[in-house]
Amino acid sequence: MSKASLLRFIVIAAFGWQAVARADTAGITIDANKPGVQVSPLLYGIFFEDINRSGDGGLYAEMLQNRSFEDFNLPMGWTLLNEGGGQVEMALDKAQPLNDKNPTSLRLDIKSIGSGGRAGVVNQGYKGLQINSKDPVVFPTSVSPGLPVTPGTLNWMQQFADAQKRSENGLNIERGKTYLLSFYARIDPNFTGPITASLEKQDGAVLASQNVACSGADWKKYEVKLTAKESDKDARFVLSAKTTGTVWLDMVSLFPADTFNQRPNGLRADLMQMLVALHPAFIRFPGGSFGEGYRLSEAFRWKETIGDLAQRPGQWNIWGYRTTNGLGYFEYLQMCEDLKAEPLFVINCGMAEQDSVDPKDLDPWIQDAVDAIDYANGPTTSQWGALRASAGHPAPFNLKLMELGNENGMGYSWGGGNAQQYADRYNPMYAKVKAAYPDIKTISTAPIQKPPINAPVETVDEHYYPDAGWFEDHAAMYDTYDRSGPKIYVGEYATKPGAGNGNLNAALGEAAFMTGMERNSDLVIMSSYAPLFVNPEWREWTPNLIVFDSARVYGTPSYYNQMLFANNRPDVVLPLDLQLPQVADPKARKPLYAVAGRKNDTGEIILKVVNITGQAEDSTIQLKGSPAGLSATATVLTSANPGDENSFDNPTRVAPKGADLGQVGSPFNYTFAPYSITVLHLKAK
Ligand code: AHR
Repeated sequence: MSKASLLRFIVIAAFGWQAVARADTAGITIDANKPGVQVSPLLYGIFFEDINRSGDGGLYAEMLQNRSFEDFNLPMGWTLLNEGGGQVEMALDKAQPLNDKNPTSLRLDIKSIGSGGRAGVVNQGYKGLQINSKDPVVFPTSVSPGLPVTPGTLNWMQQFADAQKRSENGLNIERGKTYLLSFYARIDPNFTGPITASLEKQDGAVLASQNVACSGADWKKYEVKLTAKESDKDARFVLSAKTTGTVWLDMVSLFPADTFNQRPNGLRADLMQMLVALHPAFIRFPGGSFGEGYRLSEAFRWKETIGDLAQRPGQWNIWGYRTTNGLGYFEYLQMCEDLKAEPLFVINCGMAEQDSVDPKDLDPWIQDAVDAIDYANGPTTSQWGALRASAGHPAPFNLKLMELGNENGMGYSWGGGNAQQYADRYNPMYAKVKAAYPDIKTISTAPIQKPPINAPVETVDEHYYPDAGWFEDHAAMYDTYDRSGPKIYVGEYATKPGAGNGNLNAALGEAAFMTGMERNSDLVIMSSYAPLFVNPEWREWTPNLIVFDSARVYGTPSYYNQMLFANNRPDVVLPLDLQLPQVADPKARKPLYAVAGRKNDTGEIILKVVNITGQAEDSTIQLKGSPAGLSATATVLTSANPGDENSFDNPTRVAPKGADLGQVGSPFNYTFAPYSITVLHLKAK
């Protein structure tokens, strides 16, 4: 058997597909003598936006929904427990608030307890939108004072409410693990207590329980540790009593003790591990449209997201639910540090999707941008640096990247303003940020620098959500881009039409496009797929990179594609000549997309090739200027059908598999699997 046939046999055996023999062979020639552009170390980052319930109950490890009772003008997320047939009521109450940022509490009136029974409230976590049994459900018409619910949000609420019937998992309680409960309570003198806090199975069987002796007519904070004696993925949290009286509750919060890096008020460890595996160079946060808000009153204002959790008002989220901002500016910066990723803060530039601040009133918004840098980087003697230190981080976070707005100035049908409106805000914001912090690298959201944008544009953020075919057809787009303009940040991109809930076809299109980004990394210096997470019961956007519920998590094929590019980023691009095989049909799609580069430290050559077709593609790979003998490995992401997806039941159906190809010379033959993304590493023996 010749070396080439042997290689082909090994690859077919390793990846389990049947190669279809073809007369024509692709030619790939890589010139190792002529290193090209440096690959930007920031090329592969991630973008976190609070969408699809990716914040509270997602990455932010809070386990209870609507902990502060501010979510709607109904106690959404909380249902009544009335065992034994007593008389029990609950209602939102603004009479004696915890503080002015947190105006609503829950009043529980236990008028009578049935024989041997108990009464209280139940929270099932983020198992859909839990609503006290009422038929038909009447949703609130306003989400906050003065903010009417839009028809789109009503549709989402209905979808979220329906989700509770099919959600498999409530609270994910694990045997032997400890859960940290905290809550504020005030007690009417007629209530003799105690309150029992418990984690329970749906049938009431107790997994962990503690009695809490609450007292006093003024708000007091209570903290309890609950250690589970059994596991249950569909558990519930209950606060109950066996005595009558009235109790007010607020900020009822439950966290696993085991957050990522054991941080208090921390992040879910299993979801963070998914991000660790991506080795993100940077993290863009907190949006996206989330940061803009549908209206300015719903914009992300970072100063409202730091300090005492009970003093954070939260915000109505453009994606149809309320966000606590317990995952606030400090926690975002800490997440970046924990992942060794550069923080990229997207500051609202005074523009929401539907309205904008008058330019003459822009100063506070500009000051927010300057102060955000001071909070992240300033000395502990400065006003904002001192607050950072008081949050437990005296060392600076070293923020270097700031985006001024999101999708503003593009005249999109959904809003965000036109070029003039953006320029009226970008120009002064850029000037003041750079005057205060000349080293901060800014990113603009308008396509290129041209009037009315008069301030310099250092880097521009481009967003793409087309089908896979568009990405393939535009894989060479940056080869001919104007090099005299700003640098490019592809800040949001994903295959949308035809992507299902995240299939291989979507990943193939994105991978083809990414070969062009990497080849042109002198220009395209940063990129991040969007969005990052989805809880499928709270899905507003498809597709996403990582799918989770309270107990499970998996990556889509696009997740693995991002991993392949991020974990195999060369330091320098090598010239690559791709000769495609002859095809009879002149309209046939281009089958292969490729980019090559070299690592400085090891000298190894990294070749990435995308085969978008359903046929095995034979190739002859020639390396000019490389040593005679090379050891080769292949990592391949493929599956039988381009529509294949991963799922909770089959989380790695489409996941990369590696094979050692042994020694190869130059040229050598390799067959690219149908519907595949392949990374070849070629290293001197
Ligand atoms: O990623 C989803 C949304 O798409 C982002 O919020 C917005 O920036 C874009 O339109």
